[in-house]
Amino acid sequence: MSGVPILRSRTDLQTAVLGWKAAGEVVGVVPTMGALHQGHLSLVRAAKEVCDRVVVTLFVNPKQFNNPEDLENYPRTEEGDAAKLAPFKVDVLYVPDGAQMYPDGFATTVSVAGLTNVLCGAHRPGHFDGVATVVTKLFLQSGADKAFFGEKDYQQLQVVRRLARDLDIPVEVVGCPTIREEDGLAMSSRNLLLSDRARIPAPMLHEVMQDVAEGLSRGKAFGELKAAAEARILRAGFTEMDYFDLRACDDLSVLDTPDRPARLLAAAWLAGVRLIDNIAVPPRLD
Ligand code: PAF
Repeated sequence: MSGVPILRSRTDLQTAVLGWKAAGEVVGVVPTMGALHQGHLSLVRAAKEVCDRVVVTLFVNPKQFNNPEDLENYPRTEEGDAAKLAPFKVDVLYVPDGAQMYPDGFATTVSVAGLTNVLCGAHRPGHFDGVATVVTKLFLQSGADKAFFGEKDYQQLQVVRRLARDLDIPVEVVGCPTIREEDGLAMSSRNLLLSDRARIPAPMLHEVMQDVAEGLSRGKAFGELKAAAEARILRAGFTEMDYFDLRACDDLSVLDTPDRPARLLAAAWLAGVRLIDNIAVPPRLD
């Protein structure tokens, strides 16, 4: 027993939240698919700092997996997750099942145009529709005032911000910095799928991105930096690059030069595991 109150029904969650709101309390939600690591726990910490009540959700959302094998292999560690949350004294761990989230006859999809056609969206058809649909449901079910997402999934963060604005959902979407292993690898539940051998070159993705950001700050052309970066990542042992792009922070449009707040974003395959990462690039105003 972890001591974290677990609710599995939407109506139980809604009853709890209604009570808190009636008492004027600020409610935060941290949506997750479990396999919690320090990155998730940093979101919980951020939520605890500014909210009176914190709900963590755990639902491995089938609608956002474009590959059935990926869904099957996704780590499921509810007991361990609850134990990791215990020291934070979160108010509820909400663990709905598939029937709770997508009952028979479920027929609605939330789709955010534009932002979802590029980067991961171009390589994972339907992924962001699945994310947008489940996040909209979690926002409405939890009635949260604030929701906490990691910058690690930068495109997801922008998609979620857009849907909350477009659908007038009264929730503040708070983006929190990526948490990294000591060697720079961005923390991700997918890292658990890397063998010891594959784990060795994994931080190279971040290392190369940092070097490219540095090159940009020295005035080098992105095109040249990108070609060299991709070659270096593949030489390190990655098998395929999905993308290595410089994009505007807000609308994710392609940039040649960081003449406005920009982000480097990359996705690459290592031993059958798809790793993504992104870093901020300081704007160059010359
Ligand atoms: O980032 C995730 O873990 C998932 O995409 C989310 C936001 C919990 C939706 O299922």
